[in-house]
Amino acid sequence: MQVQFLGHSALALHHEGHTVLVDPFLSGNPALQGRAIPAMKPTTILLTHAHADHLGDTETLSKQHRAPVIATYELGVWLEKRGCVAIPANMGGRIQQPWGWARLVPAFHSSSFEGEYLGMPCGVVFEAGGVTFYHAGDTCVFSDMALIAELNRPQVAFLPIGGHFTMDLQEALKAVELIRPDVVVPIHYDTFPPIRTDAEEFRRQVEAHTFTRVRIMKALDTWEVELPARQA
Ligand code: NI
Ligand code: MN
Repeated sequence: MQVQFLGHSALALHHEGHTVLVDPFLSGNPALQGRAIPAMKPTTILLTHAHADHLGDTETLSKQHRAPVIATYELGVWLEKRGCVAIPANMGGRIQQPWGWARLVPAFHSSSFEGEYLGMPCGVVFEAGGVTFYHAGDTCVFSDMALIAELNRPQVAFLPIGGHFTMDLQEALKAVELIRPDVVVPIHYDTFPPIRTDAEEFRRQVEAHTFTRVRIMKALDTWEVELPARQA
């Protein structure tokens, strides 16, 4: 199983011939400026909310590859109206997929596109090959992250650390304490001026105060994920 970080909040999970994309902001992503954007053939697209830096290339990729987009209800229906394949869902329950499953979970943020409000934002928990991931989307820290962790036991958490629109370093450290993943990958920082932050400082703080390891991934870095599977 391989995770490729695509910069900002976007990532691709490759597992047994499937590709799961989360928040595929590829075209116009400042983190990919001057780089060749890798061609993606998604099996499924997981979307946390409709803001342009997360929605990104969802419409193009979904139409091109007939890849279903799992999103909260209003956003899923909006995508269907635009000709995408969507699985409008909501928070709670597992959505079974050929590669594993996904579950939408709360996030404290907003969700709109070009002035149109598109329902609740979310985070997403997804499991493939015995490894459970939690991508928090854009959110502040909240105490129910502990409940999400208790119910799903994610080994890997992708957490925003850039502040201004999401958690900053201090809040993300608290999130790690609540979630207790084996590995945390910081996301949603340094892409735009208001979210510049020091990921190395986050690493120092997390590794000084918790048992979680921090994996700092640069855009297009890949990670062969080898973690012990947890019992459900
Ligand atoms: Ni956002
Ligand atoms: Mn964002």
